[in-house]
Amino acid sequence: MRKPLIAGNWKMHKTLVEARELVGGIVEGVGKLDARGGVEVLICTPYTLLFPIAKAVAKTPVMFGAQNVHEESQGAFTGEVSVAMLKDTGCTHVIVGHSERRHVFGEKNDRLAKKVRAVVEAGLTAIYCVGETLDEREAGRTREVIESQMGEVIGPDVPADRLVVAYEPVWAIGTGKTASPEQAQEVHEWIRASLAGTYDRATADRVRILYGGSVKPGNAADLLSLPDVDGALVGGACLVASDFIAIISAAVATVPA
Ligand code: PGA
Repeated sequence: MRKPLIAGNWKMHKTLVEARELVGGIVEGVGKLDARGGVEVLICTPYTLLFPIAKAVAKTPVMFGAQNVHEESQGAFTGEVSVAMLKDTGCTHVIVGHSERRHVFGEKNDRLAKKVRAVVEAGLTAIYCVGETLDEREAGRTREVIESQMGEVIGPDVPADRLVVAYEPVWAIGTGKTASPEQAQEVHEWIRASLAGTYDRATADRVRILYGGSVKPGNAADLLSLPDVDGALVGGACLVASDFIAIISAAVATVPA
């Protein structure tokens, strides 16, 4: 049984004052849920917020992480942040290869392979994102794209217990369009098959695969009840505490009592 993970990706949102208010609402909401210990909750904030968020979530079940990292351990990389710097904040997770990193900042699989390794070798968990564009889907290339994003980045040297995969169809991110349950389940099965090829079936069955792309309170239950969907990576809806909590509640409802 894979424990569902609901991760919020704050992207480039929230100043310190705004962040304190949002995280306060999340911590309060999570505290009121009958979570039965069955769902993990994570928020991935901008770098500037990591230290204050560490304080705000201390002694609560809410975990926190970063949205990106540089692959080198240190050096002349103006504007970048290393994994050791992230570890200083006490964060536990790092998103790698979000579609905005791939498509706005030009990060390719070879670089993302180094980032994933930097994260897991430091003992943190990588949330590695994959997903096809609309053109790729319409050209019937979804499986090929997903398999190369998996195969060129995830190898047997990446410890599976420090890996979470997020399937985020690029055409569904921030657009209000969501993959249908059938589309999501199909791609999640391909991702799990790829993991089984890299590791073995039993290991692949332990890795969580999140769905992301316009997850909202209204569609979360349908997506989270799919057999190979083990949680969600939430953008827009994680910026409103009540919406994020509603999505977490939908995940809690999938956990057998
Ligand atoms: P969205 O973003 O929920 O706003 O579509 C998801 C993501 O980019 O991780």
